[in-house]
Amino acid sequence: MRLPLLCASVMLMSLSQCRAVSFPEDEDPINIVDYHYSRQYPVFRGRPSGNESQHRLDFQLMLKIRDTLYIAGRDQVYTVNLNEVPKSEVTPSRKLTWRSRQQDRENCAMKGKHKVSLSIFEKRQRYLSTLDYDGEEISGLARCPFDARQTNVALFADGKLYSATVADFLASDAVIYRSMGDGSALRTIKYDSKWIKEPHFLHAIEYGNYVYFFFREIAVEHNNIGKAVYSRVARICKNDMGGSQRVLEKHWTSFLKARLNCSVPGDSFFYFDVLQSITDIIEINGIPTVVGVFTTQLNSIPGSAVCAFSMDDIEKVFKGRFKEQKTPDSVWTAVPEDKVPKPRPGCCAKHGLAEAYKTSIDFPDETLSFIKSHPLMDSAVPSIIEEPWFTKTRVRYRLTAIAVDHAAGPHQNYTVIFVGSEAGVVLKILAKTRPFSLNDSVLLEEIEAYNHAKCNAENEDDRRVISLQLDRDHHALFVAFSSCVIRIPLSRCERHGSCKKACIASRDPYCGWLDHEVCGRVTPGMPTGGYVQDVEYGNTAQLGDCHGKTYSLFIETSFIKEPD
Ligand SMILES: *[C@@H]1O[C@H](CO)[C@@H](O)[C@H](O)[C@H]1NC(C)=O
Ligand SMILES: *[C@@H]1O[C@H](CO)[C@@H](O)[C@H](O)[C@H]1NC(C)=O
Ligand SMILES: *[C@@H]1O[C@H](CO)[C@@H](O)[C@H](O)[C@H]1NC(C)=O
Ligand SMILES: *[C@@H]1O[C@H](CO)[C@@H](O)[C@H](O)[C@H]1NC(C)=O
Repeated sequence: MRLPLLCASVMLMSLSQCRAVSFPEDEDPINIVDYHYSRQYPVFRGRPSGNESQHRLDFQLMLKIRDTLYIAGRDQVYTVNLNEVPKSEVTPSRKLTWRSRQQDRENCAMKGKHKVSLSIFEKRQRYLSTLDYDGEEISGLARCPFDARQTNVALFADGKLYSATVADFLASDAVIYRSMGDGSALRTIKYDSKWIKEPHFLHAIEYGNYVYFFFREIAVEHNNIGKAVYSRVARICKNDMGGSQRVLEKHWTSFLKARLNCSVPGDSFFYFDVLQSITDIIEINGIPTVVGVFTTQLNSIPGSAVCAFSMDDIEKVFKGRFKEQKTPDSVWTAVPEDKVPKPRPGCCAKHGLAEAYKTSIDFPDETLSFIKSHPLMDSAVPSIIEEPWFTKTRVRYRLTAIAVDHAAGPHQNYTVIFVGSEAGVVLKILAKTRPFSLNDSVLLEEIEAYNHAKCNAENEDDRRVISLQLDRDHHALFVAFSSCVIRIPLSRCERHGSCKKACIASRDPYCGWLDHEVCGRVTPGMPTGGYVQDVEYGNTAQLGDCHGKTYSLFIETSFIKEPD
């Protein structure tokens, strides 16, 4: 830890020397897909409701449910039918507009009322399919932020809405909140920096008896000078009913959190501590796993890494030791096991070690008081094989968004990761997961996905990839920017045309050399003898060169297809 940090500050003086100490090498992409090629891809910009010249998508989030993609922008939600393959533009099939009346805006400013938008869709199937507004309005307080730039995630589980956001204008009251359904609303303790401190929430997942939240925050346990951001996973029991009237009434009795350890091993560790984006739980080699993209601290030199964590490892940490600070200035240390009360804090009533308790309200005061002051676990969650899946450290941009296809290729046994960046570039990575030797993942493609001509760029920040959504059924990836969403295919096998060498060298699990002597997409169910592919090695030793003919030919075609 210490060496690379020191390194970062010496950075300006001796860039190359420093990098040799701390940062891993970047891999060159096998193929580059530049703007001349990628600009053919269809773009979604939303539809103006009123003054066309003032329209801007202002992307907030997107969500795929079956064959429909929901895209939420400012005041608007669009549906896109994924069965319709677009040509030059992605057009919405429906649109729902929240016209904020003047009175609403005033109310909002006075009392902080917003309406919950997209998360509601997950609850109501009818609403979902038609986008009809059924008139039910609920307060957005503690469910939505005051400002679209503030942090916000939401999830429905068992008829209850779990939301993580800030509940005031100044963003000082960060809260993980549960409401709706039966029982009283529960929340994290207000203004208690041990629970959460200036968090940025990224994702919420329901799994087993729990709801998990992934976020980053200011680390209270960080002992060195200055502020540091750490990445966290937090866990809450779904059957939490809050504490007794004496301790933690109407507050979580099961809130635990742990640091996520995404670091490069070696003589000196290098940590990627700033979580930017994380997937849902996916099974990789049969192991429930989440995959996240992490970066260096935002005030240091850019560097990014992809790390995977198994849910079992996360559980193990929550069963381990708690961390505490005995006096305000002392170092944080592990709590000895014999100082932990019974039933064990963080357990769910009626389950495991708390089986004898009907509800969390019945927990003894000692258990409740302990968890109130000890939400942090001592150990950090190790990443799978204890090293990143992929790193990118020699570029000026950070990686910002992730999507994973864990069933790529004709046998659906390859894992392909897509990561977006601040620079509008999308990286496509083959992750070697069998056996787990993630250190030799392969950078297949570097795709310049951003289309400045079609996306009404206003500033540099518009190139930032905000979100990625995979649509495996239609072989597409939706790449969201602030002012547009671009639909790119998962592969571009046809680029290699009739050049077998380029086709095999691409190592792309979606591509193969087909019977009729062209490079094309290989899909599940294709007869094994019908194509040639070498994802593992990309061995082209016996194959002749193609003198670049097919490449240039293809680029010309794409120019013809999409003139400026
Ligand atoms: C639309 O907005 C532009 C720019 O703000 C303005 O100049 C124009 O008058 C507006 N048009 C209408 C019909 O409101
Ligand atoms: C992070 O993981 C490495 C092993 O890869 C370990 O040596 C290091 O101590 C861990 N850091 C923390 C804070 O647990
Ligand atoms: C995927 O399955 C095919 C066919 O069974 C096999 O040849 C290949 O080695 C497998 N690849 C991996 C990474 O398991
Ligand atoms: C990469 O992984 C392989 C297999 O697990 C291992 O033998 C090799 O030493 C690793 N290389 C590095 C640089 O860690």
